[in-house]
Amino acid sequence: MLICVPDILSKADVKEFRAVMDAVAWEDGRSTAGAQSAMVKKNEQLPPNGDVSRKLGERVVRALAANSLFVSAAIPRHIFPPLFNRYGAGQHFGVHVDNAVRGDHLSGMRIRTDLSVTLFLSEPDEYDGGELIVEDYYGSHEVKLPAGHLVLYPATSLHTVTRITRGLRVASFFWLQSMIRDAHARSMIFDLDNAIQGLVGRLSRNDPEVVKLTGIYHNLIRYWAEV
Ligand code: NI
Repeated sequence: MLICVPDILSKADVKEFRAVMDAVAWEDGRSTAGAQSAMVKKNEQLPPNGDVSRKLGERVVRALAANSLFVSAAIPRHIFPPLFNRYGAGQHFGVHVDNAVRGDHLSGMRIRTDLSVTLFLSEPDEYDGGELIVEDYYGSHEVKLPAGHLVLYPATSLHTVTRITRGLRVASFFWLQSMIRDAHARSMIFDLDNAIQGLVGRLSRNDPEVVKLTGIYHNLIRYWAEV
């Protein structure tokens, strides 16, 4: 399941991020790629352990934690320090699957990558091409979102970034380990949460059936969660 989350960063935040990123040196994107993906990856990245990546990454993580839609969809246990990349004309990232486990040298954090995230930092009209294509059970999905919005997709999926034919595609990308490992279980919990939020709007949080459903929501998390 792909889930788009709007307005993680404001337009002002995006502008500030881009100015900070423009002022520093970038490196070959293959520095963080596995053996297969290095063969099909052609882009640039901010040095993952550099000050700029870390500081902007911390701001992204704070924004994620404050976003109820993101938290409801991902139920995050560990969020990998966000990385930043850019693709210019002619660059692309061919078909690959992200590494199953990611380790962070600075913090010692090691996570199982349940979900992959792309947070767009360019507006769609700034570049042509550069669609994120994600393949899942239901076919192939094309994603290109406004700056400040993100997409969550299963890290198990084959995916690609199509060749850029004009402009610059800037994004933050990272992975997370969810408290709910099973994608179907996570999806049902997300659907249940959405249904409860809908009922709360029509009835009240204290409606007896809403209280029961809220209890079931928490008990399912209690049943499935790794913490
Ligand atoms: Ni990838």
